[in-house]
Amino acid sequence: MNMPPTSEFFEFLRFPSISTDPAYAPQLAACADWLDQKFQRMGLESQVYPTAGHPIVVARSKPKPGRRTILIYGHYDVQPVDPINEWTTPPFEPSVRDGVVFARGSADNKGQIFSHILGVEKTLREKGELPVNVIFLVEGEEEIGCEHLGGFLEEHREELACDLMVVSDNGMVARGYPSLTYGLRGIFAMEVKLHGAESDLHSGIYGGMAPNPATLLARMIATLHDEQFRVAVPGFYDAVVELHDWERAEWARLPLDDDFFKAAIHCQALMGEAGYTAAERAWARPTAEVNGIGGGYQGHGTKTVIPREAFAKLTFRLVPNQTPAEIEAKVRAHFTRVCPPQVRLEMVAGHGGEPFLCDPHSADGKAARRAMARTWGVEPALTREGGSIPILDTLRRTLGAEILLLGLALPDAACHAPNENFPLENLEAGIRMNQALLEELAGV
Ligand code: BES
Ligand code: MN
Repeated sequence: MNMPPTSEFFEFLRFPSISTDPAYAPQLAACADWLDQKFQRMGLESQVYPTAGHPIVVARSKPKPGRRTILIYGHYDVQPVDPINEWTTPPFEPSVRDGVVFARGSADNKGQIFSHILGVEKTLREKGELPVNVIFLVEGEEEIGCEHLGGFLEEHREELACDLMVVSDNGMVARGYPSLTYGLRGIFAMEVKLHGAESDLHSGIYGGMAPNPATLLARMIATLHDEQFRVAVPGFYDAVVELHDWERAEWARLPLDDDFFKAAIHCQALMGEAGYTAAERAWARPTAEVNGIGGGYQGHGTKTVIPREAFAKLTFRLVPNQTPAEIEAKVRAHFTRVCPPQVRLEMVAGHGGEPFLCDPHSADGKAARRAMARTWGVEPALTREGGSIPILDTLRRTLGAEILLLGLALPDAACHAPNENFPLENLEAGIRMNQALLEELAGV
């Protein structure tokens, strides 16, 4: 394998571009400037656009009339690093072990977007021009719900006009086994809080008479699912489109049984809705998940208190044709109904994103599949995935072009977790995939 030089990739990975923590805003700005300079060195016209949040970088090749325009979207922001003690090497000091780069953001999304950048650079160097016009759109708020990108797209829709969008911010089936992903789940986030007495209370003096918000919240959370792990919020499945037979058949061929996923996440058993395989549940069925739960004493040893409040952070993953607004209304009605009268209920909605689905059998979809087959020597699988890229639906509606997802992250990439990683092999394959893709798309 002809390994790409890694020094620039490592520079990109060294920026601690953690978008959720305002303390890192200067580092995000520096990372955006670094990208801008990289694009300019490649001979692209590039600009950094400040927003009320983190900056957006847009770069383009010199437009040639008569050529199709392909927009490549990605993000340079990353998730927080905690629990920091579980990292083998520091998250912002890239380290290579057995050909795999370990660093926060290596897979999600810096390695994947950088493959496209290096692919375009290589084609420009080898051929002096690209087979299509290319626009790069790289943002810094994907991991916090893309707050400012929607407005930016509205304002710049003419400059961003394109025939097709390409995104590599997702996964492939396995090492050497690519996939064209034609669906992602949507998301709706909500924090639920229960308020009991005015302050924490002695649990001996008042236990037995005072309302305990933690106990009552546990009961409410338990009402989210039935015994079969179906979501029990009334009307939750009303809009859900069932899986097609061809999808179930296509996925059944993949080497993704329960044992595969158990081994990938190192757990003793899987859990989820009865009647579906693990991949079907994660890719095409909606869920209700508790992301965090708290209240009362969390320190060492014991402390005998009745907490004055308890909270849970929840997210619902959505599938076509569910919408965040519809699910918010149903979840609010459900919790209002099941909340016991002894406590006051507070619900705060967080970010939302529509589910995404496209046609993998379109002419562009077929061109992408040819490019992947050329790159890996293997026909790509057709998959959906469980993660969310909330801006996809807005991108497609605002710019009026379809989106193809060609992911490069492996199932054990540890995205959002300690020891996130990306094989150099995938950086190299991603470069070749970009070159083949632009060629194939030029011919459509
Ligand atoms: N790259 C992921 C989304 C993803 C992961 C898609 C794996 C397909 C497979 C993205 O950066 C991400 O993590 N998105 C968040 C969105 C949320 C913070 C609004 C997610 O899915 O939790
Ligand atoms: Mn991502």
